[in-house]
Amino acid sequence: MASLPLLVCFILCTYNSLAHGGNEEEHVLVAVPTSRYSEPAATCSTSRVRWLDEGSNTVSVPLVHRHGPCAPSTRSSDEPSLSERLRRSRARSKYIMSRASKSNVSIPTHLGGSVDSLEYVVTVGLGTPAVSQVLLIDTGSDLSWVQCAPCNSTTCYPQKDPLFDPSRSSTYAPIPCNTDACRDLTRDGYGSDCTSGSGGGAQCGYAITYGDGSQTTGVYSNETLTMAPGVTVKDFHFGCGHDQDGPNDKYDGLLGLGGAPESLVVQTSSVYGGAFSYCLPAANDQAGFLALGAPVNDASGFVFTPMVREQQTFYVVNMTGITVGGEPIDVPPSAFSGGMIIDSGTVVTELQHTAYAALQAAFRKAMAAYPLLPNGELDTCYNFTGHSNVTVPRVALTFSGGATVDLDVPDGILLDNCLAFQEAGPDNQPGILGNVNQRTLEVLYDVGHGRVGFGADAC
Ligand SMILES: *[C@@H]1O[C@H](CO)[C@@H](O)[C@H](O)[C@H]1NC(C)=O
Ligand SMILES: *[C@@H]1O[C@H](CO)[C@@H](O)[C@H](O)[C@H]1NC(C)=O
Ligand SMILES: *[C@@H]1O[C@H](CO)[C@@H](O)[C@H](O)[C@H]1NC(C)=O
Ligand SMILES: *[C@@H]1O[C@H](CO)[C@@H](O)[C@H](O)[C@H]1NC(C)=O
Ligand SMILES: *[C@@H]1O[C@H](CO)[C@@H](O)[C@H](O)[C@H]1NC(C)=O
Ligand SMILES: *[C@@H]1O[C@H](CO)[C@@H](O)[C@H](O)[C@H]1NC(C)=O
Repeated sequence: MASLPLLVCFILCTYNSLAHGGNEEEHVLVAVPTSRYSEPAATCSTSRVRWLDEGSNTVSVPLVHRHGPCAPSTRSSDEPSLSERLRRSRARSKYIMSRASKSNVSIPTHLGGSVDSLEYVVTVGLGTPAVSQVLLIDTGSDLSWVQCAPCNSTTCYPQKDPLFDPSRSSTYAPIPCNTDACRDLTRDGYGSDCTSGSGGGAQCGYAITYGDGSQTTGVYSNETLTMAPGVTVKDFHFGCGHDQDGPNDKYDGLLGLGGAPESLVVQTSSVYGGAFSYCLPAANDQAGFLALGAPVNDASGFVFTPMVREQQTFYVVNMTGITVGGEPIDVPPSAFSGGMIIDSGTVVTELQHTAYAALQAAFRKAMAAYPLLPNGELDTCYNFTGHSNVTVPRVALTFSGGATVDLDVPDGILLDNCLAFQEAGPDNQPGILGNVNQRTLEVLYDVGHGRVGFGADAC
């Protein structure tokens, strides 16, 4: 069994090198063996991860999909169906788009996107001595939280690890109400009532309600976070959750990576320059990474585009074009005027109406050899039965300033034999760059320099 992923990788790598061979056509069309989809993922592989330089001012931790053999808690029976994943993702993206939409400023900020659609987790240490916590990463919300003891079965959902118990940590402290940190929390919409703590003095409460109906409330707290052995974040501010509900499952909490002051990224900006990156792996049986800090010596592997900051939490860039099989789709620049939010938690990219229609037509034309399946959650899905390999066109996204990003073939383009894009709203509304398109890329959110970078083949 152990050799299975190696075999899959061997086939993949062989095709990758074929694709980069001399044949002109292979620069725009790539043959992908369909057999790789039927190989069951059995073990977790970290072999593709390109780890960061030891010497640079960055710290990286493995990042894995919450389902599949890399997950810290493997319960494959819990894996939701594709249509369920897409339903959750759509709920999240609808919420994010309405909040980011220029015509809609009325949604309270204590609401976050759907937590339930989040799919990637990291393991960090919390407290002293550090205890492992498996956290969902979320670029669409800011405040991190974990479930905290004491909490009974009606107020906390079941999780794999023991609850974080602040009374066993020598570095834990609730944040008092009369602090700047608590006032900032209230200003940014995550605040809640002050409660009187056991040691006297009013404790700063927090509350978050997510778009999918799940919620968490508790005490805004101060603690030591261990990212990697010997690499700690002192005075990490997070929510110690004493009341959670909703469709969460098995994970200990959430790591907020948005752009507001409550986010881990902003809290650590004096050390890591307000930069972070991640690589989402091609498949659930491979690991990627989450890193704080920008690669100091090696920004050369990246293409950059300016970051547009209109809304505190979300990271927005301007897309300017798409090519399919080397040919640009024919749309005016105004088709992308709404901007694109880059999100770790939305699965399928949501593209504005005009751009989506043109992309769909070009992709279907390039894939005309394969029968289309009837519309389901997605409208461009293929039946590859009977084909030992499938020829997929390269798809590249171009961003403001000329940055061109080749999506991974096929894992950045296809999700379960479907084109991993769908139509969002009108052209002047924001779109969302989802996590399938981001697979195998290192996506660098360099907030300090006001730019987003994309590096190829990072995991
Ligand atoms: C604005 O927000 C409301 C309430 O959440 C929502 O129903 C509506 O669809 C949003 N409008 C746009 C254009 O996003
Ligand atoms: C759980 O804790 C809550 C709040 O402390 C309390 O109201 C509730 O009665 C408890 N439920 C059980 C089953 O112990
Ligand atoms: C967090 O704890 C540190 C000491 O451990 C202290 O210096 C800092 O003021 C605390 N922050 C808040 C907001 O309570
Ligand atoms: C992004 O696009 C919007 C709308 O077209 C434009 O106003 C803005 O200046 C652009 N920003 C960047 C950094 O390209
Ligand atoms: C896919 O194609 C095969 C062979 O052409 C056919 O037998 C099968 O019913 C098709 N599956 C679907 C879901 O249409
Ligand atoms: C794809 O499969 C066909 C047979 O179905 C074969 O003739 C062709 O050589 C294969 N292409 C590649 C690149 O493997």
